[in-house]
Amino acid sequence: MRLFTLTIITACIMGLSITSSLAEKKQGAKELYKQNCKICHDKKSPSGEYTPMTLIMDQWERFFEKKYEKSHKDVKHPVQKDKAVIEVITKDMLKKIKKFCIDHAADSEQPMTCG
Ligand code: HEC
Repeated sequence: MRLFTLTIITACIMGLSITSSLAEKKQGAKELYKQNCKICHDKKSPSGEYTPMTLIMDQWERFFEKKYEKSHKDVKHPVQKDKAVIEVITKDMLKKIKKFCIDHAADSEQPMTCG
């Protein structure tokens, strides 16, 4: 009986920690978007307002594959002013941001602005 209870408790703890790490990952991508994209693409921003739901999935795919580097290589980063945007945002960060945009695009199941 004690073993049974222990097993249940362990299972609950494992379940909880998996759920919370998933939530953390999601939160992380949103924060990345806020800090690295929204800073230049907020409402009234001269570079245009872009949130995940501004575009559909295909358009995001094309943007990250074909346009991002070209349109951001000569743009200076607002925080690290001596660097271009594409130098500040690492490949890994960009991968997460891309996933976030596609997961919450206008034609996705969970369209989302980013707060
Ligand atoms: C330092 C400011 C800055 C940051 C940071 C930035 N952008 Fe941009 N973005 C621009 C400028 C400037 C343009 C070009 C606007 C134009 O050509 O009229 C642009 C253009 C775009 C476009 C229009 C499509 C294109 O390629 O012309 C999209 C979509 C976009 N950015 C998304 C993003 C995303 C997603 C991120 C984060 C990974 C990001 N931007 C980070 C300044 C920024």
